[in-house]
Order: sequence, then C-alpha cells, then structure tokens
Amino acid sequence: MIRRATPNDVDGIIATNIECLPEHYPLSFWMEHIERWGDAFYVAEVNGKIVGYVMCRIEYGQGYVRNVMRTLGHVVSVAVREKFRRRGIATNLMLASMDAMKRVYGVEEVYLEVRVSNEPAINLYRKLGFEIVKKIENYYLDGEDAYVMAREL
Ligand code: ACO
Ligand code: ZN
Repeated sequence: MIRRATPNDVDGIIATNIECLPEHYPLSFWMEHIERWGDAFYVAEVNGKIVGYVMCRIEYGQGYVRNVMRTLGHVVSVAVREKFRRRGIATNLMLASMDAMKRVYGVEEVYLEVRVSNEPAINLYRKLGFEIVKKIENYYLDGEDAYVMAREL
C-alpha cells in the first residue's frame, strides 16, 4: 500500500534507507522534509512495516530540461527493501510523488542525482520519462560520479 508519510513513519523510513543506500541523513533532515514537503513524501507499507519511501523537496531554480527559472521537484532519496523489489513499488512511489509535486506545489520539472553505476535506478527513471541531462564528477563521498536525470511534469 502506498500512502503519504507521517512523522510516525520516520523510524521505518530511516531503517529502510540504512538497509538500501550509503547516503544517510540526520533525523532532523527527514523530519524537515516530512513537515515542509509532506504532500510529496510517500511510503510503501506491507503488513504494517515500511518497505519503501520517496522523499522530495521543492526548489526554485534553473531547469535542466528547459533552461529557465522554474519550480523544481528534487527527488532526494528513494529506496525499496530488497525483498520487495521488482514489484513496481518504486514506480508507484515515484508516480504518486510526481503527481503531488505537480498538483500541490506546481512543480514544472523533476530532477535527481543517481550513481553512474546504478543501473536498476537509471532504468527505473528512464521508464518514468527521465533523461540524463548532466554528469557531475566526484559527486559522492567515495568519488563516484553522478548523472543528473530530469523530466518535465
Ligand atoms: N535491474 C535492472 N532494471 C531494474 C532493476 C534491476 N535490478 N530494478 C528495477 N529496474 C527497472 C526495470 O526497468 C523495472 O521495470 P520491470 O520490473 O518491469 O523490468 C523498473 O526499474 C521499475 O522497477 P520497480 O519494481 O518499480 O522498482 P523497485 O521497487 O524494485 O525499486 C529501486 C527500484 C528503488 C532502484 C531499488 O532497486 C532500490 O531500492 N535500490 C537501492 C537504493 C537505490 O539505489 N535508490 C536510488 C538511488 S538514487 C536516488 O535516490 C535519487
Ligand atoms: Zn539530490
């Protein structure tokens, strides 16, 4: 089941993040996103347990797809626990979040950074209509490069 995140979900969200990704954040960072951009923060729940999430923030800045100042939706982090992958959960989380970003926040373009080696995620984003618009060298702490991927909403 996909639903909006609440502050009560933060423990399960952080546990999912630690299990799935090397990029971790302080509790205050997760809470800030739930409080400020909660309409675009979704979780996937199975039998009362959080198995996936997508966390976004809304920004105003230069677009990648169209080179103009606009309202941007920044997908900060998305993850699904290993046992629950390949069932469309990340797709549904992203679709719910993108719909809310457009409807609630007036987002015109969505973007994110992804490791150049992260084929599953790159495939997921391509399927959702994102394109690689930029490469950022040495973006991650371990020195790996990032692709910026973006699409208009
Ligand atoms: N290999 C190749 N393509 C894949 C894979 C894979 N292992 N997993 C997903 N995809 C692609 C496929 O095209 C898939 O469609 P298909 O199953 O019909 O072939 C499509 O993505 C959609 O897959 P979903 O089932 O919706 O994705 P899932 O729920 O499995 O979650 C995710 C994908 C989030 C990337 C998951 O593998 C994960 O949590 N990985 C670790 C964390 C991570 O890398 N997160 C993204 C970091 S970047 C960021 O956060 C902005
Ligand atoms: Zn980012």
